[in-house]
Amino acid sequence: MKSANKPVFVCQECGTQQPKWQGKCHDCGAFNSFVEERVTEPSAGPAEHRYSTLGVVSHGAKKYADIEASDADRISTGITEFDRVLGGGIVPGSLILLGGEPGIGKSTLLLQAAANFAHHVGPVLYASGEESEHQIKSRGDRLGVGEAPLYLLAETCIERILEEVGRVKPALLVVDSVQTVFSLKFQSAPGSIGQVREAATQFLFMAKGHNIPTFLVGHVTKDGNIAGPKALEHVVDTVLYFEGERHHSHRVVRAVKNRFGAISELGVFEMTGIGLRPVPNPSAMFLAERPTATPGSAVLCCLEGTRPLLVEVQALVSTSSYGTSRRMAVGIDQNRLSLLLAVLEKRAGLHLVSDDVFVNIAGGMSIDEPAVDLGIVAAVASSLRNRPVAPATAVFGEVGLGGEIRGVSQANLRIREAEQMGFTRIVLPASNIDASEESGKAELVGVRSVGEALDMLLQ
Ligand code: TYD
Ligand code: MG
Repeated sequence: MKSANKPVFVCQECGTQQPKWQGKCHDCGAFNSFVEERVTEPSAGPAEHRYSTLGVVSHGAKKYADIEASDADRISTGITEFDRVLGGGIVPGSLILLGGEPGIGKSTLLLQAAANFAHHVGPVLYASGEESEHQIKSRGDRLGVGEAPLYLLAETCIERILEEVGRVKPALLVVDSVQTVFSLKFQSAPGSIGQVREAATQFLFMAKGHNIPTFLVGHVTKDGNIAGPKALEHVVDTVLYFEGERHHSHRVVRAVKNRFGAISELGVFEMTGIGLRPVPNPSAMFLAERPTATPGSAVLCCLEGTRPLLVEVQALVSTSSYGTSRRMAVGIDQNRLSLLLAVLEKRAGLHLVSDDVFVNIAGGMSIDEPAVDLGIVAAVASSLRNRPVAPATAVFGEVGLGGEIRGVSQANLRIREAEQMGFTRIVLPASNIDASEESGKAELVGVRSVGEALDMLLQ
């Protein structure tokens, strides 16, 4: 065991500890990631653990049958789309991490949820290390927070925040953000891996011990991970990511880990002048500006979590002006695009070698689901041949390397969504046809190969 106040060097990427500074971490391969941290050992007796001051009392092991299941009592945030990503509401005593880029709307969403919670459930403590109480209040005025018992605390010291929790006894705690808070037990700067991990652990014990659901806001690094450690994601119950293009008004909250619900569940919001507004029918929004009868555009039924979603795939194929042709994908995986273009060349006889190909998912969505394949193929072929996709036609299906069209999951859900949005013809994998229930609203066209699909799709 290390002695008190002895420095350790901690990799900020993976949390490995070393007695000396190193240029490269041998565990995760990160360069220049070691930072000196000092730990002040608490003078606790052997039987006490260091979080015992938080009032967490263990009663020993319990028999499985004696433990009451508490599945039903989820608490609504008052925001439908937010409840949806959480798997139906907040589970009491859960610790939830909300990550996202700066300025995307994390504080706005949590302040709205906090205000609703304070109105309908009980007092809420909103601790912010980023903004003063005045700044939060002026934002709250725009959001119409009103007279709810919402307590604001501009504080970065974890021990002070926990003291206030003891005083206010909130029904919900929000900590904005986990990178700005620090514990007196560590001498390293806020945001370092030691501090972030300590914060997560202390709030975890508090949430579980006192049954106070807690939101932690987390910043996202350049490469899109929640800053600081992966370790943070292991500690918390639920990890939500806030996504969206800054230049679009819509925002998507996605669950990437949820101990109490389905992952890759999706909540869609629109940023307005008075905060975030849930979008109950995102397909309508994503298709709003779609050009009809224009080559290079196809409508695709994808599935995000349990939610079917219609989005527009756009492709532009133009003659390459340089020796090498460019392939660019926005919203889908670049490698997937290369693979599909190769299949189109080899199996459907399309000539794309000397062309630039650009593919974009309209509205700033990003999708990683094999069912997008057929939509991409349709949009690219439509642009190349300069023939629009047949009117009122939606499409989904996975494309194999042999040019075969493979079935995808949840075909019925996708079909229903397309029908609801007014599509009267759906091109889908032939193998999905058998299991699909015809409702008569839309004609279902089953296809087996890329060539057959293009014949059915293009006008
Ligand atoms: P914010 O919640 O502060 O982002 P984060 O906490 O993720 O950094 O959101 C900031 C952005 O949202 C800012 O650019 C202004 C915009 N906004 C609105 O458009 N309408 C509103 O009602 C509010 C409160 C913010
Ligand atoms: Mg913020």
